[in-house]
Amino acid sequence: MRDLEKASYPQRVAVLGLGYVGCVTAACLAKLGHRVIGVDRDEFKVAEVNQGRAPFYEPGLEGLVEEAARAGRLSATTNLGACVDECDIALICVGTPSEPNGNIGLGQLRRACEEISGHLPRRTRPLIVVVRSTVFPGTCEEVVIPALGDRSKFTLVSNPEFLREGVAVKDFVEPALVVVGGDDPDAVRRVASLYDALEIEPCLVSLRTAEMIKYACNCFHALKIGFANEIGSLCSRLDIPANEVMATLCADHRLNISPAYLKPGFAFGGSCLPKDLRALTYRASRLDLDLPLLQHVMASNDAHLKRAIERVLALGSVKLGVFGLAFKENTDDLRESPVVTLIEQLIGKGRELRIFDPHIQLDQIYGSNRQFVLNAIPHIGRLMVADIGSMLSWADAIVITQRPAADAGDLIHGAQKPLIDLSTMEMPGRAAVRRSDAGWVKTLTPTVS
Ligand SMILES: NC(=O)c1ccc[n+]([C@@H]2O[C@H](COP(=O)([O-])OP(=O)(O)OC[C@H]3O[C@@H](n4cnc5c(N)ncnc54)[C@H](O)[C@@H]3O)[C@@H](O)[C@H]2O)c1
Repeated sequence: MRDLEKASYPQRVAVLGLGYVGCVTAACLAKLGHRVIGVDRDEFKVAEVNQGRAPFYEPGLEGLVEEAARAGRLSATTNLGACVDECDIALICVGTPSEPNGNIGLGQLRRACEEISGHLPRRTRPLIVVVRSTVFPGTCEEVVIPALGDRSKFTLVSNPEFLREGVAVKDFVEPALVVVGGDDPDAVRRVASLYDALEIEPCLVSLRTAEMIKYACNCFHALKIGFANEIGSLCSRLDIPANEVMATLCADHRLNISPAYLKPGFAFGGSCLPKDLRALTYRASRLDLDLPLLQHVMASNDAHLKRAIERVLALGSVKLGVFGLAFKENTDDLRESPVVTLIEQLIGKGRELRIFDPHIQLDQIYGSNRQFVLNAIPHIGRLMVADIGSMLSWADAIVITQRPAADAGDLIHGAQKPLIDLSTMEMPGRAAVRRSDAGWVKTLTPTVS
């Protein structure tokens, strides 16, 4: 392991819970030069750490615990009170197991917060309480803050853990991601600086965003495994080498292993994705192969389209201008465009429409493309307008279905009409704390164009 003992600002840290996350966090923070006290109700774990042993097997952990305990940078106790008095930062790493109904169990977390709360009145300056356990978005605000009590005695930060058991120490010292969330820039900066010795720029976000990022990551990992296993199972049935297929898929870093297709926006459509999903799942079913993940992708897309339609209807406006008819920008392909379904539904609900698409003039499209839209909406020609200005001046409200070019975006926003942008789920004007050359600064998410 490279030399990590260079914390620019060594801090006194309490780590509550000496399980897989807490013990690895405690030992690694001590390795980074911080003074760490681990707290657990389990006397065995406390005794093991104090004797320089890891309370469970995790590669590399035993050596770290031994070294840090011998150097006097890591100790453990069952007595939380002494820790709260001595430390500036308390990291909560207690378990959040599933309840029988699937909900997250917050009993350990509530109890840990109540215990901390009991020791806060003696403090002269606020304790930075950091939730490192995985908790559903809103838990910090709705459960942790009330359980901690007096707001003048603590500031709350979220710093979810991303380590994987089996490579937990390596994941800690060579992290792929460090997320620190909170509303108090000083506390956020202080927690982020725990990791100064590591070669990573922490992502600074709000409390709820930090909580959500952890869930998004784990769900994405689960989704990826499910996807690989379903594709692999189909490959096996077809006597095709699954590993070769997936390794080749992963060789594409532009469209496959990349941010492509990972931006929340409008439903997908077009001439390929729906068709190919349908064919693959149909052929799998003929092989008696159950691929529930892939079978439900279209249902997921339909549900997303339904939510978009409900959002537009909730606008209440009767005269709607729709920007974009094709399934995405820079194409005139209308086949399986979700916008066509959106328009059908809006017409059915009594909305009047004018539609502008920079790349579509009905008299210039032909073949299956033209057939698709005319089948769905025979009078589409009467709804299409040739210039964006006439649509904007006629409409009471605007619906964007595909990302407009800069000039069209300026015109749309300049019209100053109620607007729903289905092409993005960005939330303009949201504050975030970020590190810049000038230090830690609060920035605003740019307004959606
Ligand atoms: N295990 C992982 O790979 C992993 C990875 C990332 C995040 N997480 C999340 O981190 C959290 C902890 O997971 P874990 O696997 O380390 O759990 P764990 O069950 O191994 O450890 C939890 C520890 O907290 C202690 N504890 C409970 N209440 C306490 C209290 N009031 N005071 C002191 N100690 C107390 C328990 O005795 C136990 O030692 C969970 O939210 C989990 O979802 C786990």
